[in-house]
Amino acid sequence: MTLPDTRPTPDVRTGDAGIPTSLPARVGVLGGGRMGAGIAHAFLLAGARVHVVERDDQAAAAARDRVATALERSAARGRDLPDADTLSVGSDPAGFAGAGLIVEAVPEDRALKIDALTRIEAAVDAGAVVASNTSSISIDALAASLRRPERFLGLHFFNPVPASALVEVVTGAATTPEVVRAATDWVEAIGKSAVVVRDAPGFASSRLGVALGLEAIRMLEEGVASAHDIDTAMELGYRHPMGPLRTTDVVGLDVRLGIAEELERAFGARFAPPALLRKLVAEGHLGRKTGRGFYEWSA
Ligand SMILES: NC(=O)c1ccc[n+]([C@@H]2O[C@H](COP(=O)([O-])OP(=O)(O)OC[C@H]3O[C@@H](n4cnc5c(N)ncnc54)[C@H](O)[C@@H]3O)[C@@H](O)[C@H]2O)c1
Repeated sequence: MTLPDTRPTPDVRTGDAGIPTSLPARVGVLGGGRMGAGIAHAFLLAGARVHVVERDDQAAAAARDRVATALERSAARGRDLPDADTLSVGSDPAGFAGAGLIVEAVPEDRALKIDALTRIEAAVDAGAVVASNTSSISIDALAASLRRPERFLGLHFFNPVPASALVEVVTGAATTPEVVRAATDWVEAIGKSAVVVRDAPGFASSRLGVALGLEAIRMLEEGVASAHDIDTAMELGYRHPMGPLRTTDVVGLDVRLGIAEELERAFGARFAPPALLRKLVAEGHLGRKTGRGFYEWSA
């Protein structure tokens, strides 16, 4: 069934509050790690100039390499590449001046993100939209320290960004409808689909995805079935493209543990992390990125 698109269609390329609904010419990304590099790559391919800010020059150079590698993979698949000078990197948020959108993608730590967002806001133009790629932290909690919470929202990209079609647009209590509409249009302009979700712990995807993942880990602990058979039950029985344990390996066991702890604080024991998850994380078995999680991974 196709639902009618009830969003108001802007008849000019500028939204009601002076926010362009076409893709901003300049986009900033704070934190050029796994997600930030993927986000930068997506906006570069869509034609924006992208500036990535990292914590120091060495990390900035590493971020540039990550984005370049992602662009090379796209070229190998036949995509036209943007000019090399459309990507810039640095270590000072002042470089975000002139950007219409800045996406924060530093590690999932509330204090770190509040500090990062405050520094972004101090550096950018008053009209810029600022977004966080947080997987689990409340948008309203992050907005509380900002001077312009009406121009702040969550843009929750998925991992790996180039292969993921979805972005959750997470609306805070103060986010204006114009900002939500512009952000939704920008997501579509980079070739992805947006779902709009009210700020609630775990949004839509993490809450459901982690619930399934934690139950799968408990089933493994209880010896109900092997990891392979638990995953196969979902892949073949429910047509999930990837089972919950393999998905946990790909996301990172440490990332999932952090989200589970956040959801346990919000919803109680039903999101309590299983002992097996804590044990594997404590042993450094974080999934694909360390070569071992619920499965063995070769490089
Ligand atoms: N990995 C996933 O599957 C996934 C999926 C969706 C959302 N997220 C979210 O995306 C965010 C980033 O996750 P990631 O997996 O890319 O982490 P990551 O560790 O790969 O990257 C984080 C980057 O931020 C940089 N950084 C740290 N402090 C900084 C600072 N003060 N200023 C600038 N840069 C700084 C680090 O050097 C690093 O390159 C987190 O909020 C995470 O929850 C992750």
